[in-house]
Amino acid sequence: MKKKHVGIIGMSVMGSNLCLNLERNGYLVSIFNRSYKKAKEILIKNPNKNILCFKKINEFVNSISKPRKIFLMIKSGNVTDIVINSILKYLDKKDIIIDLGNSFYKDTIRREKYLYSLGIKFVGAGISGGEMGALLGASIMPGCNKNVYNKIKSILISISAKYNGVPCVDYIGPDGSGHYLKMIHNGIEYGDMQIISESYCILKNLLKMSNLEISKIFSTWNKGELNSYLIEITKKIFLKKDNKENYLIDFISDVAKNKGTGKWICKSALEIESPLSLITESVLFRYISSLKKERCLASKILKSTETNFVCKNKDFFIEDLRRSLYLSKIISYAQGFYQLRIISKIHKWNLNYINIAKIFRSGCIIRAKFLDKIINAYKNNFKLKNLLLDNYFSKISYKYQNSLRNIVSTSILNGIPVPAFSSAISYYDSYRSNKLSSNLIQAQRDFFGSHKYERIDMKGKFHTNW
Ligand code: 6PG
Repeated sequence: MKKKHVGIIGMSVMGSNLCLNLERNGYLVSIFNRSYKKAKEILIKNPNKNILCFKKINEFVNSISKPRKIFLMIKSGNVTDIVINSILKYLDKKDIIIDLGNSFYKDTIRREKYLYSLGIKFVGAGISGGEMGALLGASIMPGCNKNVYNKIKSILISISAKYNGVPCVDYIGPDGSGHYLKMIHNGIEYGDMQIISESYCILKNLLKMSNLEISKIFSTWNKGELNSYLIEITKKIFLKKDNKENYLIDFISDVAKNKGTGKWICKSALEIESPLSLITESVLFRYISSLKKERCLASKILKSTETNFVCKNKDFFIEDLRRSLYLSKIISYAQGFYQLRIISKIHKWNLNYINIAKIFRSGCIIRAKFLDKIINAYKNNFKLKNLLLDNYFSKISYKYQNSLRNIVSTSILNGIPVPAFSSAISYYDSYRSNKLSSNLIQAQRDFFGSHKYERIDMKGKFHTNW
């Protein structure tokens, strides 16, 4: 029997689409799923394809040519360990396992170490693009030993999205770096979604616009600086009607769920002391959204003061909102990339921010026109500390800051929650400040706990008997 090129375990929609993607790109694919029936369905739905399905895990492993390349497209967490353990005894040295799940990067580091001790190679690869990305081309972020990457490079390139012919995959760095980057990608995704939804809230509740009008605004915005996949789908969402001819968006519950990667990025930010305020607010907002019953009760008790907002010039206000969205987006990415710098130093990952921004240009959820600006910024200065310090971004920040100030203050005065927008302008004002109010915090710490403080006019640590 002719041996197969690759194997995939996990036939969820992502796994089965990835299987079809590999097959379309010339690979013979062995597939395995916990439920054989589900795997078999793929064969039935896709007859005459180079796909072979196995009932027994040992038969699946044996069918793949050595050194084997086995993709895992399964739920992250314990399941990944269980699946790895279930194939271990059938593997040979030099076989490669590629985990494409949304795994926690510390798990990836642990798994790689363990498998290496057994002679098995391991790749922790973040993958973005949802179901369509898996089928037509995804953005892929592999973290592993460079030699191992070279062995799977051509496969990953073939299934990746292409941006003007350039594959949206590149070597990220050692061990958990690929999954860490995917976590940053997801955090940025949360931030983008949050600022878009805050804009929606302002258009709907302050300007009292209809879904049709809101869709038109997003459509116009998508033609300029804000051009991105998330703005593109947002404009479409406002037009969708249900089978009763109602706009669907008005009937969707306002409780936003999450699968946990947002929580991880915030935890990591706290752990490595990275000021990731905008993404953190976006994660917290999902938690507030889930307090539906409490919110309904509180809405009857905690009334806002009466406001009668009058928009003097709608076009100017909408332009302010567009600028706020763009500047907040820049600040969110600046914070995300800043966190990458910190973690890269800690783990000596030596991340290449130009390549990272390139990978995000197609296939993934955060694909956006302005990634080219990020690429330029790092090309101009590879050691750039904070994206905001780049010439283009600092100019935009200077130009757009008053729009953001206007949108945030107007929203707050009118009782509209804008935690991500507010955190953006607060970060901007804190980061650009050469004198914060933290001298008082130092004084208080010393007052009650003799924690000592530093002076601006003398070297050393001081304590005062307050
Ligand atoms: C992607 C997405 C995806 C993510 C989902 C759900 O890049 O394709 O980031 O990996 O897991 O969007 O995320 P939440 O359920 O946490 O919103």
